This record gives sequence, structure tokens and C-alpha cells, in this order.
Amino acid sequence: MFAYHRGQLHCERVPLADIAAQVGTPAYVYSRTRIEENYSHIVQAFAELDPLICYAVKANSNLAVLALLRDLGSGFDVVSGGELYRVMYIGADPARVAFAGAGKTEHELIYALDCNVGEINVESAQELDVLEQLASQRGQATRVALRVNPGVDPHTHHHISTGHAGSKFGIDLDQVPRVLEQAAQYKHARVQGLHIHIGSQIPNPTPLVEAVRKLLDLVEDAQRIGIAVEGLDIGGGFPVAYREDETFATVQDFARAVKPLLKNSGLTMRIEPGRRIVADAGILLCQVQFVKHSAGRRIAVTDAGMNTLIRPALYDAYHNIVPLHCPQADEPLRAATSNELTDIAGPICESSDYLGRERALPELERGDVLAVMNAGAYSATMASNYNSRPRPPEVLIEKDTYRIIRRRETWDDLLATELA
Ligand code: LLP
Repeated sequence: MFAYHRGQLHCERVPLADIAAQVGTPAYVYSRTRIEENYSHIVQAFAELDPLICYAVKANSNLAVLALLRDLGSGFDVVSGGELYRVMYIGADPARVAFAGAGKTEHELIYALDCNVGEINVESAQELDVLEQLASQRGQATRVALRVNPGVDPHTHHHISTGHAGSKFGIDLDQVPRVLEQAAQYKHARVQGLHIHIGSQIPNPTPLVEAVRKLLDLVEDAQRIGIAVEGLDIGGGFPVAYREDETFATVQDFARAVKPLLKNSGLTMRIEPGRRIVADAGILLCQVQFVKHSAGRRIAVTDAGMNTLIRPALYDAYHNIVPLHCPQADEPLRAATSNELTDIAGPICESSDYLGRERALPELERGDVLAVMNAGAYSATMASNYNSRPRPPEVLIEKDTYRIIRRRETWDDLLATELA
């Protein structure tokens, strides 16, 4: 979806230089076609298991992206009242919404009950207790899944690993039977499912298979306690290659690995992919403001930094960075190189404010525009106003046209909620 044609980087059929000229930089740009393809790959890979796909809204919560996924048939995984508000706003079917998160407030739980969401994923015994009280006060039954911490190591970056012992997420495996006994007493918060999400960017299916096995054991424990578990939610975490030479298991590999465990289990299934649907459907455009040299390195300072894409600063994450114009480019996204390596820095007053370091890029000049690849997930949603910088616009490309799906913030927007 992002490729050079005659030396110019395009998204679908739109030259990205046109977007930079017309919308300005920094800007996030998304390919509608790629989002559609990614979603349908997941549907096809898991077809035999017929899961409810609950797109993890945190990856990219733009209303137009959510509406597009709703139209494709997706449900939604939300982790806050704000995310729930977004999916309700676009008219999602609440029965296809799962509300997760380790720290839901009472206000958020009440809102979830008001919306009558399909499932509330409860992460502690205490949360289950509070939910039962709230639901019984309203005389309303609600479907609950217990989020289990299966105690497996997903072999991913420690900041995005959630299912290991000592994690704040979910209920420890050995405590689950006790919580199920507690749940068996409850009339309103009805436990009907078990949920795991062991981490993001899981390199291969092995830890997921191990975790699903543990869930299946718990289904039997639940039965003995008198709780009929109807479905399993196995979370998200399907990986995306951020480096050109990286290879990970595909969504098909994950589907193939869990199929034998779940195919004839009689259980319904949910998955919660986020990154895999949107990451490679988006880029961040930024413009070189200044080029300077220090201690044998070239530093290009751009108008986008950790405020617009925090992943490199926060996780040491790698994002490919390519120029918009690349006369010699004969292969997609392989930029012409000069001898000197370039650090791509942002404008923020923090020494961790880099988008990439030691990159082979052509000579860069003031005014050149760069594309930071794989910026469709956890980029706009993690952006901040640090240093009082307005957040960039988001643009959705649809074949040979584009539309602005979020306008650029203004300096007045920055002040709008404050009182002097
Ligand atoms: N379900 C639950 C309960 C989650 O916590 C997450 C992500 C997902 C699904 C979706 O995971 P995915 O399919 O996108 O891997 N900001 C980090 C990623 C944090 C993921 C948090 N939870 C990053 O930029 O790498």
C-alpha cells in the first residue's frame, strides 16, 4: 500500500508529497485498503473457529477507523469509558463490545452497564464484587469474563508483556478457582467466559497455546464449581514486522496452532487484535527542519518527535524511516543511502526524543519530508501535547482520494480546557 512509483512514495494511488503539501506535517496517513485487507486476513485465518473479532481500540481509536471496522463486521475491545464512548458514538453493536482494563472506575462500570456491553472482562476478585453490587442495585444481569493471568512469558518487550507472574493484569491462575466459587454465588455478574491477553507483539504461538491449555483446564474447574463457561477470549498480540529483515509467525500460524485446542471444544471464541489490523496501514509524515553534525554523526531534526510517536523513546522500538522522494528506488521502501548515518531527532526538549538512530538515508536537506513507517498503531493514540505541541491531523487515503479524519490541533485547542 506504501510504495514508490517513479521515485515518489505513494499511499495507494496518492503521492504522499501531495498530502504533505496540502495537509502539512507532521501528519498521520492511513490506507483504508490495507486496514480492510488486514481485517479480512484475520477473518480468513480464523474462519474455522468463527471467532468474534473485537478490534482493540487502543491501537487506533480514530472514529473513521472504528466506523470502517464496524462496517467490516468487527466488534470492539475497549479499556476505558472514553473508548466505550467512542464505539457507542459510531453506533457499534454493544453486544459485540468487550470492556476490559485493570482499573475500571465505578463511573465506567455504570456506563458499561448503561450501554449493556456484551461482556465485561473483570481483572480482580474485588472488581467482580463491585460489579455484582452495581448490577444488583440496578436489577440488571451482565455477562462477565474473568481475565486470567496464565503465568506464561510471551517473549516480547517487557513493557508490553502482560501474562507473566506478578503482572498487574488479570487474576493469578491459582486464585481463579476461588474467584469462580465467589462468582457462583452471584446472581447479576454472571461469569460466562475466561479471558487472557498475554502480551503484544508475541513472536510465535507457543506461549499462546500454553496459555489456552491452562484456560481449558480452568473451564473444567469451573464446571465442577457449577459455572458453565461458554467462551474463551484469547486476546490480541499478533505481531507485525517493523524491520525489513524481521520474520514473525503469521496470523495463520496463530490460528493453526490454537485450532486443535478449540475446534471441537463447544466454546465460543473471541480475539482482540489491534496492531495487526492497523500498524502497517499507517505512516507518520514529518519534515526535516534542520540538519547538523555532531561527533561524526548527522542529525536531522524533524517536526515530529516523541510527542507524536513515543514508541522509539518508550520501548526502543524500531520504525523504518524513508524519504518521500527516492529517484533510485526500484524496490518498495528501500531508500538510497549515503555513507554517513543519520539520527532522526524530534523537536522535544528530552534527550530520548528520537524517531530513529543511525539510519542509512540519502543526504537530507531542510524541508525534506520523511515517512515513518508502521505508524498506524499506538502512534496517534499515544500522542501527547508535551512541550505544548498540537497533535497532528490524521488522513485516510481511499484509492486516489483522501479525507482528513482528524484536524490538526491549534494553539487554542491546547488552552481550551484550562482556566487562567
Ligand atoms: N487485548 C488486550 C486486553 C490488550 O491489553 C491489548 C493491548 C490488545 C488486546 C491488543 O494487542 P495487539 O493486538 O495490538 O498487540 N503501546 C504498546 C502496545 C501496548 C498493548 C497494550 N495492550 C506498543 O506500542 O507496542
